[in-house]
Formats: sequence, C-alpha cells, structure tokens
Amino acid sequence: MTTRFASPRLVAALRRTALTLAASSALVGAASAADVNIYTSRQPSLIQPLLDAFTKETGLSTAAIFIDKGLQERIAAEGANSPADVIMTVDVGNLDASKKAGVVQPVKDEVLEKNIPAEFRDSENEWFGLTARGRVVYASKERVSETAITYEELADPKWKGRLCTRSGQHQYNVALIAAYIAHHGEEAARTWVTGLRDNLARKPEGGDRDQAKAIAAGECDIALGNTYYVGLMQNNEKEPEQKEWAKAINVVMPTFDNGLTHVNISGIALAKNAPNKENAIKLMEYLSGDEAQRIYSEINYEYPLEPGIAISESVKAFGELKPDTLPLAEIAKFRTKASEIVDEVGYDEGPQS
Ligand SMILES: [Fe+2]
Repeated sequence: MTTRFASPRLVAALRRTALTLAASSALVGAASAADVNIYTSRQPSLIQPLLDAFTKETGLSTAAIFIDKGLQERIAAEGANSPADVIMTVDVGNLDASKKAGVVQPVKDEVLEKNIPAEFRDSENEWFGLTARGRVVYASKERVSETAITYEELADPKWKGRLCTRSGQHQYNVALIAAYIAHHGEEAARTWVTGLRDNLARKPEGGDRDQAKAIAAGECDIALGNTYYVGLMQNNEKEPEQKEWAKAINVVMPTFDNGLTHVNISGIALAKNAPNKENAIKLMEYLSGDEAQRIYSEINYEYPLEPGIAISESVKAFGELKPDTLPLAEIAKFRTKASEIVDEVGYDEGPQS
C-alpha cells in the first residue's frame, strides 16, 4: 500500500525522532559550553584536580561527564553529533574496546610519544596510558613474614585457606590472568587459577579494599589489590575505619619470574568525532606531562608513566615498582581466554578442595 500522506504511526515516529534530536542537541549545547569535553569512567573527584590544573595552565575550560558503564555505546549512539572530545578510562581492556568500537581516532603527536613509553600506548596511537597501577599483594603485617612473593607462588598450597580476592571476573583480575597466559601459556594459567581458587579463604566478594578489610578482620592473610587503594585507605578522612584496614597490611610487590610486576593503566583517547580536536590534544599532552604526572602520584597514588618524574612519598612507600615490559596490548589479547578460565575452574564459587 502506498499513500501520499503520512500515516498516524509515521507521524508519531517523526515526532519521537524530533524529540530525540532536540534532546541530543540540548546535550551538545550544554556539553559544548566547555573548551574540552570529557567522557570518563573515572571518579570525578579523582580527575578534577588534574582538570583544574590544566585550566589554570592553559585557560581552557573542561566539562567532564561521568559514565560508569556503556561509555563506548553512548559515544557510538551519539555518532557524528557526539560532544565528546576525549575518553578517560581505566584498564587496557576498556581502552582497547574503545578502539574496537571505532569511537576513537589516532593521534600522531611527538609530546605523547616522548612522554608515554611505547608499551603503554596503542601501536596505532588510538589510546595512551597516563598512569600505572601495580596489581600487588596485600599481606597481613601480623601473619605474613615473606617480603617477596611471586605471582606463581600465590598458587602454592602453603597459602591454602589464606587468600582473599575480589571476583575473578573483575577486569583487574582478568588482566592479571591474561598476563599470566602471556608469560606461561594457557595450560599453566589454568593450573595457576585452580591453585588460587583452592587457596581462597572465602568466596570472592567486594572490591580490592574489602580484601584489606578481611585481612584486618583476620579472615585471610594475603590478598590481591591495586596499589592506589592503599593510599586511598591510608588517607580516608570520610571513612576513617579504612585507615585501620590499611594499617593491617604491608604491600608486597609481587613479580613474575622475569622479576617484573603486572600493572594496569589509566588512559586517554581522542574521540572519533571530537568537536574540539586541537584543545583535546592539548589536554592529552598536558596529562602526559611533568606537572600532571606529579599530581597523579600525589593525589591519586598512581605511578607516573612519564620517565623521570618523582613519585610521591605515599607511593614510594609501596616499594619500588618495576612494571612488566610485555606490551599491554599483547596482554589484552588473552583477556577473553582469561575470563573463560575463571568460569571453567569455578573461581568465583570459592575453594573446592
Ligand atoms: Fe580501581
């Protein structure tokens, strides 16, 4: 059937489209008020001091929209009208997913190349690491005397009933297992994850900080966690009980048998349709540079990626970090396999033998 006049259904559909367009242009209008518009999955309180310092340095204003989940989907849905200039997120998995989703674009830039070592950026320049965070062992001050532990040794039966971790499916643990596969192969990784599972004191639950809490409560002796959470617990004025959790643990810098520690990164990428491309690149350069790298270490307790930047006293106290030199993009290739292994061995169901 054909008709020259729009059917009521079509009219309704057109109205809906008009409403959607109005809504998204309002969004564009609001967000484009700033000189650089940031879509981020990082806690706003963590990045605001850096954005303020950038504005002070350059006079350019910023607006950050916090998007916990579905960041890539949102930019994809906004398409050519997306107000996003840059994406700031954590973990190479998320950065790589942004590249695969086609929501970012390459940046060929000498400053970024000079500041960020090659193993911490995409080989096609579609994302750049900004900070490193060690995936380390939290060890009970009271009950653990070891000062050096390898990742491999965490599966040793001597830790039976003594290990706590968050879900094996959390991106931080998936990345660590992916690194294990990259070092030792899939079979060895399966054996290792099975060993970790059987050393668990309880079913994986909570976040990294909850593992320190469990150590403080005597539920376990060692745990896996990221370095910066230790700084965040030590200085937590809002929830001072976290200071007690931090007091119960030492950070032990675990290594693979190459002597190097697994790190994950926080990073940044230029959005595919960045309306303020030039300003966006200025922000990327700024965040990779001396001043911002120092702020990351002082306020967020993260490790600068730019070589030669002094780290804060709190971060120094975690011990010397020698980051694994395997390119993160290499490790990311094994993420799917790592996640499958976690399910196969029933890691999140807790100890089975
Ligand atoms: Fe985190």
